[in-house]
Amino acid sequence: MAEVAKLKTPDGKELDLPIVEGTERERALDISKLRSSADLITLDEGYVNTGSCTSAITFLDGEKGILRYRGYPIEQLAQQCHFMEVCYLLIYGELPTHEQFENFSRTLRRHTLLHEDMRLFYDGFPRDAHPMAILGSVVGAMSTFYQDSLDPHDPDQVDISIVRLLAKLPTIAAFAYKKSVGQPYVYPSNDLSYCANFLRMMFAVPSEPYEVDPDFVSALNLLLIVHADHEQNCSTSTVRMVGSSLANLFASISAGISALWGPLHGGANEACVQMLEQIRRDGSNVKKYVDMAKDKHNNFRLMGFGHRVYKNFDPRAKIIKAACDKVLAKQKVRDPIFDVAVELERVALSDPYFIERKLYPNVDFYSGVIYRAIGIPLQMFTVLFAIGRLPGWIAHWVEMHASPTTKICRPRQIYIGPTERPFLPMDKR
Ligand code: CMC
Repeated sequence: MAEVAKLKTPDGKELDLPIVEGTERERALDISKLRSSADLITLDEGYVNTGSCTSAITFLDGEKGILRYRGYPIEQLAQQCHFMEVCYLLIYGELPTHEQFENFSRTLRRHTLLHEDMRLFYDGFPRDAHPMAILGSVVGAMSTFYQDSLDPHDPDQVDISIVRLLAKLPTIAAFAYKKSVGQPYVYPSNDLSYCANFLRMMFAVPSEPYEVDPDFVSALNLLLIVHADHEQNCSTSTVRMVGSSLANLFASISAGISALWGPLHGGANEACVQMLEQIRRDGSNVKKYVDMAKDKHNNFRLMGFGHRVYKNFDPRAKIIKAACDKVLAKQKVRDPIFDVAVELERVALSDPYFIERKLYPNVDFYSGVIYRAIGIPLQMFTVLFAIGRLPGWIAHWVEMHASPTTKICRPRQIYIGPTERPFLPMDKR
């Protein structure tokens, strides 16, 4: 017999709540019948303790600092994989064979160009527009260009939308950067790998030869892999929520991009480097900023620190910090913000405030340092996060639609406003 938990309600009813157990022995109370059987709902602001679905994509254990995609440890994938393999793994469930990998990469390479009319959008965006705003808008506009593939129930239409998104997002992103610096757009070069192509579209100019640095390609490949999925985070839950209304894949991903932009989520990498710069300009007085973060009357937080799920080292931060050394070694002048970051980490991790709350550096703490070393401008950091997270969003959207138990996401609430009162005409208010 399935395990249950007993619940005694305020009006004396006794209920059996089934226990759901995952493959890694995580357990949840199934409360889906609670309202119909006891007229009660659960209240959990910020979904701190609420599972919104079951999922077979990513496992993470925040206490032990474990992260696995489809069972494979992130450390192994980051060291040994091509980002395209990870995209395939997340979306289709298994690592690709050589032939599957070649087919997948070849198909993506054929779809890297943007429709020329889509390129014209860039003329209309203000030059100082944030590239995340451009990214979300252009991805949303894909629904206007590909009206032949908007049906979430048609597997062929979904497949071609997946290819178009994965193939075009780097082009959309690089064009946003070119627009901001007033340089000509560099069209994709399909003989290059995903990361090399992106770097070329970002940094090549027609007037000079451009050689892609293989170390930068490897660093970018690693960064995209560690960002590729993170189970039910804010942007992924947004993609699932929007998709649950049967909105098309482009619309759902565009919503995910907007959710990622916020500084408490993907925008933290940009905010973190701004903070490190500010500390450096302020004489590298790390302790002052740690004290500010601890002060309850000050809303300053250490960006790149803390995580809803990780209460131990974020394994992604460890991988990125190790990769920093290699990329920074190539620089003639050491980036001073790396030293500020190392000192900030040391001071915070020996402070009782951070120890008691289990606040550790997260994925965003060191990623900005590498992006800077590669030459990526600050405003593009979160865009890089979006390119990395895209396969995760897609995998979740596909998994949700494949599940026979999926319903439209529609949380309940406890109303705390005025009770019924009569309407007052304007002259009586
Ligand atoms: N600096 C100072 N204090 C912090 C910080 C921080 N970065 N993060 C959490 N705290 C404190 C917080 O004030 C609270 O203290 P108290 O218990 O005394 O009220 C306690 O730690 C718990 O924090 P919380 O806000 O309840 O935790 P949360 O799970 O709701 O928030 C978080 C998680 C990531 C939003 C938060 O840690 C934060 O704001 N960090 C800075 C922004 C950041 O780096 N975001 C990137 C997250 S990782 C990448 C991603 O998923 O996008």
